[in-house]
Amino acid sequence: MRIGIIGAGRIGGNAGRLFQEAGHEVFLGSHDTVADAAAFADVVMLSVPWTAVDEVLERTRPLGDKVVIDTTNPYGPGGVQDLGGRSAGRFNADRMPGARVVRAFNTLTSGFQADAAGRSGADRVVLFLSGDDADAKALVGGLIEEIGRRAGREPSMARSTAPRTRRRSSRRSVPAARSRRRRATTS
Ligand SMILES: NC(=O)c1ccc[n+]([C@@H]2O[C@H](COP(=O)([O-])OP(=O)(O)OC[C@H]3O[C@@H](n4cnc5c(N)ncnc54)[C@H](OP(=O)(O)O)[C@@H]3O)[C@@H](O)[C@H]2O)c1
Repeated sequence: MRIGIIGAGRIGGNAGRLFQEAGHEVFLGSHDTVADAAAFADVVMLSVPWTAVDEVLERTRPLGDKVVIDTTNPYGPGGVQDLGGRSAGRFNADRMPGARVVRAFNTLTSGFQADAAGRSGADRVVLFLSGDDADAKALVGGLIEEIGRRAGREPSMARSTAPRTRRRSSRRSVPAARSRRRRATTS
């Protein structure tokens, strides 16, 4: 698969490296190459600071119905941005009409995601994802599993209000086996 990373920093750069190791063609895009990265890709990963999203989307249009993995969290001047009651995922999906947006890679810190990259089996961490398009979610879930994590599916974009609090983040970073046990006892 051809994956274009828009914002090859801590989150995007690390994910890009793992996708490449898993055998995918990866274009690491940054400032002057974001349009090339988007045009190259079957799957786009949007991983720039929240304050750069509008400008970047302006330069990468049209995204058509591409799958977009949205890692961004709504931090800007003064802290968490007021999105008028919309979740961050819904807010961004509305900025990319037609694109099949899946939020993922945004609930754990970049340092933890990099440190946990080598885990296997029951020690794999869970990366949660949400989105409205079932096929896109399945595709992104598959990519997550290919790079050695477990995909945890949230039902809809409406709940993708990350950033999480510190406490909740650490709860979600439990190894996969423990996470499964917890779900089995709470569902
Ligand atoms: N870091 C975390 O722990 C973490 C966790 C979850 C989610 N996130 C979210 O993921 C996103 C990326 O975070 P990050 O920590 O990976 O950020 P980062 O390390 O600062 O990387 C951001 C990338 O975007 C590029 N960029 C910045 N402004 C741009 C613009 N106007 N046009 C094109 N490229 C631009 C940067 O290029 P230059 O470096 O060349 O400027 C860099 O490659 C953010 O929305 C963040 O909220 C971060």
